[in-house]
Amino acid sequence: MVLPIFRKREWLEPPLDDWKVVGFGSTKGGAGRTTMTIETASLTAFIKGARVATIDWDVVNPRLTQRLFKSLPMRGQTLVRTITAKDFKKALKNVSLHSVAISQTAKIDVMPALSYEDIDQGVVDEYFALMYEKPEEYVKRSRELILTLKRTYEWIMNDYPAITWVALGHLSLSINHVRATAGNLVIVVDPSPWSAELLNSKLILPKLEGMYIGALVVNMVRPAPEAYRWARSVFEPICRKIGAANLAVIPFDVPLYEAGIGEIKNLLSVSVSPLKHKSRSARFLYSLVSRFTSNEREPRCFYIGP
Ligand SMILES: Nc1ncnc2c1ncn2[C@@H]1O[C@H](COP(=O)(O)OP(=O)(O)OP(=O)(O)O)[C@@H](O)[C@H]1O
Ligand SMILES: [Mg+2]
Repeated sequence: MVLPIFRKREWLEPPLDDWKVVGFGSTKGGAGRTTMTIETASLTAFIKGARVATIDWDVVNPRLTQRLFKSLPMRGQTLVRTITAKDFKKALKNVSLHSVAISQTAKIDVMPALSYEDIDQGVVDEYFALMYEKPEEYVKRSRELILTLKRTYEWIMNDYPAITWVALGHLSLSINHVRATAGNLVIVVDPSPWSAELLNSKLILPKLEGMYIGALVVNMVRPAPEAYRWARSVFEPICRKIGAANLAVIPFDVPLYEAGIGEIKNLLSVSVSPLKHKSRSARFLYSLVSRFTSNEREPRCFYIGP
């Protein structure tokens, strides 16, 4: 049996019209989406004193949840539980996130992807069943979750799974999910010619039609002047083509790496910790967030980087 939605090639959700709802996406795993979500959310809360919510949409590899909670939570409100709730309206009404202190003065709120209880009780399976059997319902519920959270939070930062744009076959579930849940897309890529090639291709570009792209982030660039020059020269034309507001070149950075693999206990966000002085990237992340949170939203590829 072919599900109706599989035949519907032209499915393209209207983009969410809110530039303060950010989504971090890429086609490659390990490009740095979770790191960017945590650092950007933390800096936005820290610099602006804004109420910031983060959502971990990566149910298969819930690194944001694990990093901010130190491990998966045992139970409680989670993304999969909320999205699959029998009484979804009631679940939205009762939705509440978990606050995590990222410095002495700032906090961000987190919606964890899943808990151990969700795994044991089959809620994760229900989540994937909803996604694949009723993709339109899944996308609709996801959009409603964002709209509900926006009543409480000024900023929402979505950490998406690796295959953010192109789902299997021509089921464009992933991209439509992004279009419905982010009004400001941040594309995170590794500094390779292959990422540049893909970004330039028709595989991705047409699917971003009508979306506001806040930044193209070239992450983990080898810390050497020629590597920075290369990243800038290769990705700047692509940045212009996709019409992103900013182009950020972020060096490979030891504190970011160590925070990401859990090597430093109690370190959630490098950019708002004392370690920021040892971080090569912290000041670029700071510049990115300063521009990002201002009203400066012209698609002109403002360069941020070494
Ligand atoms: N600029 C950086 N410098 C050094 N290490 C980095 C940098 N950015 C990210 N990392 C490290 O790279 C690894 C992958 O980063 P991250 O988890 O943010 O990527 P992701 O795109 O969310 O990956 P996944 O596909 O697992 O969700 C982590 O260990 C992280 O600490
Ligand atoms: Mg991740």
